[in-house]
Amino acid sequence: MGAMEVIIQSDKRQASLLGARIIARQVQKKPNAALGFATGKTPLLLYQFLVQMHREKELDFSRVTAFNLDEYIGLDPSHPASFHSYMWQNLFGPIAIREDKVNIPNGMAADIPAACRKFEETIKSSGGIDIQILGIGRDGHIGFNEPSSSLTSRTRIKTLTAETRRDHGQEFGGDEKVPFHVITMGLGTIMEARTCLLLAFGKEKARPIAQTIEGPITAMVPASILQLHQRAIVLLDEEAAAELTKIDYYRWVYGHKPDWQKY
Ligand code: F6R
Repeated sequence: MGAMEVIIQSDKRQASLLGARIIARQVQKKPNAALGFATGKTPLLLYQFLVQMHREKELDFSRVTAFNLDEYIGLDPSHPASFHSYMWQNLFGPIAIREDKVNIPNGMAADIPAACRKFEETIKSSGGIDIQILGIGRDGHIGFNEPSSSLTSRTRIKTLTAETRRDHGQEFGGDEKVPFHVITMGLGTIMEARTCLLLAFGKEKARPIAQTIEGPITAMVPASILQLHQRAIVLLDEEAAAELTKIDYYRWVYGHKPDWQKY
């Protein structure tokens, strides 16, 4: 089954809650699930909901394996702007994921290509990622697969665009301090996740979201490869959905979802 499901919610709170419910269902059904995480502003509310569910004892993450999309090269994991720090602070710490089950690309590895290969092997040996959470860049990137990335790429080194470096300047206390290079899962890697959960909120995401869902599949909009995914769920607020031409149809489909398919 190939399917992209577009779900538009009134605001990012509702969309994030639905996203958290989809993750929760997966972990309840398969306590040793492998989950793929993203960093950035977009998934923060979803992570807060997962933390709340864990605190209320609805969810146990002790057997979950975690993978992350990306990490800066040459940045110590203890640096406050590293994705290691972000994940431990916003999610892994509060939900008590086991440290030995956390896999974030190692940007400090002496041999980066070997570290990338090992990362891919770890995904395979865990049985594959059940749900991969994704955000989208203003240029249509997912992970750090910037425009022109190969649509079949694997985990590898990438050079950030000037725009993406500027987007992250604040976390580093200045644009010039943002690393130039990252390790990112490839588009081919992301496509192998059994479910992809793409979240996008706010008007600056309206254009890349319209291109991703309704535009041609092209390396110039890396997220557009998700049109070929076996199960991609796109969770949007009204602002991010604003440029979709088939918006009424997506609402109609979601409004008439058969009960047995509901989240
Ligand atoms: C983060 C990542 C990126 C972000 C994207 C959106 O791990 O891989 O693709 O998801 O840059 O970032 P925000 O959510 O900050 O707008």
